[in-house]
Amino acid sequence: MTHTQGAGRASIGVRILGSGLCLPEKRLTNADLEACMDTSDEWIVKRTGITERRRADWDNGEKTSVLATKALREALSTAKIDPSELDLILVATMTPDTPTPSVSCIVAREIGAGNIAAIDINAACSGFVYTMNVADTMVRSGMYRTVAVIGADCVTRHIDYSTYGRGAAILFGDAAAAVVLRADDNPGVGMIAQRMHSDGAGSKHLFIPEHCSDFPDPDDFDERKLDKVQMNGQAVFKFAVSKFQQVINDTLEDAGLTADDIDHFVCHQANSRILESARERFGIPEEKLLVNIHKFGNTVSASAPLVFEELRRAGKVEAGQKVMFLAFGAGLTWGSSLWQL
Ligand code: UT7
Repeated sequence: MTHTQGAGRASIGVRILGSGLCLPEKRLTNADLEACMDTSDEWIVKRTGITERRRADWDNGEKTSVLATKALREALSTAKIDPSELDLILVATMTPDTPTPSVSCIVAREIGAGNIAAIDINAACSGFVYTMNVADTMVRSGMYRTVAVIGADCVTRHIDYSTYGRGAAILFGDAAAAVVLRADDNPGVGMIAQRMHSDGAGSKHLFIPEHCSDFPDPDDFDERKLDKVQMNGQAVFKFAVSKFQQVINDTLEDAGLTADDIDHFVCHQANSRILESARERFGIPEEKLLVNIHKFGNTVSASAPLVFEELRRAGKVEAGQKVMFLAFGAGLTWGSSLWQL
C-alpha cells in the first residue's frame, strides 16, 4: 500500500479554492455547566482548555444539515463557485439529521446543486481528515472536478447535562465547516501523503448506545446512558496522545519531510493537553499549531476545518504552504492528510 500521492492520474492536482463555517448562536459556557452539574470552570480549563462551546437548537430545526448547508454556502462564496459547478458533495458526520436521507443529499437539495453525487462518511472525529483523502483521490481519478468537503456534527443532543454525564458534557460542541476543492493543472498541489487507521477493538472506549445490547460489558447498562456519549476519558486520552504523535511521525516519514517543513498543523481539537504533547514532542512552535478549543470545545468532524477556516480568515493560509490535517476519535479512528497548497 502506498501512503503518498502518485498512484492516480499523475497529471491532475487538487486545489483548495475556499472555505467557510457555521456556528450555532447559543453559547454553553463553563458557568452554564456549573449551574447544572457538579463541575467547575477551574477544573474544566485546567483539564481541557475549554471555556465555552456552541449548542445547536436541534428541537427547533437547527440540525446537522442546516449547519452544513450554511458552511458550504460560505465556502462556495469565498471560492467564487456557483453551486451548479459542484459535481460531488462529501459530508463527514456521525450525527445525521435522521438515518436517511443523508446530510449530503439534503445539502445538495438546499443549495440547488442538481442531481450530483452526495455521500456521507462516518469516521467520527477523524471524519473530515478521512474525507479530504477520499476527495483528493476522487478528483485525481479524473471522475470528479469540483468537490465540496464538509465536516458537520451536532453531538450535544447525545450529551447528558447532569453530573452523571459530566465527563463528556464538558468537552463537546456543535459546528460545521467546509472547503471547496477543484482539479488543478498543477499535479504538485493537493494531498501529498496520508494515513487512515482504525481499531474496532477500542470502540468500547467511546460510543453512543441505542440499546442494552450495544454495551460491550452488559454490566455497564444503565437506562440513563442510552443515546448519550459514553467515554472512557483516560483510555481515549492515552490512545489520542500516542496515535497522534505516531501519525505525525509516519506522515512526515512518508513525505520525506520534517516537522519544520510544515507551515500549519491543522489538528482536531479534543483536549489542549493532547495538542500540547504533540507540540512538545515535535518542537512545533505555537504559531504553527493553532489551538481554538477554548472557544468551541470538541466539535467532532467540524473541528479541524474550523481551525483551517480561522487560519484562512486571519490571512495565514497561502499558496505554496504545506498543511497537515490531523485527527483521532471514536471507532477508534485516526489519520492525517498532508496538503501542498
Ligand atoms: O475526539 C476524541 C474524544 N475524546 C477525547 O479526546 C477525550 C480524552 N480524554 C480527556 O480529555 C480527559 O480524560 C477528560 C477531560 C475527559 C477527563 O480528564 P482526566 O484528567 O482524565 O480526569 P479523570 O477522568 O481521570 O477524572 C479525575 C477526577 C475524578 O475524580 P476522583 O475520582 O479523582 O475523585 C473524576 O470524577 O475528576 C473528576 N471529574 C470531574 N470533576 C469535575 C471527571 N469529570 C469531571 C468534571 N468536573 N467534568
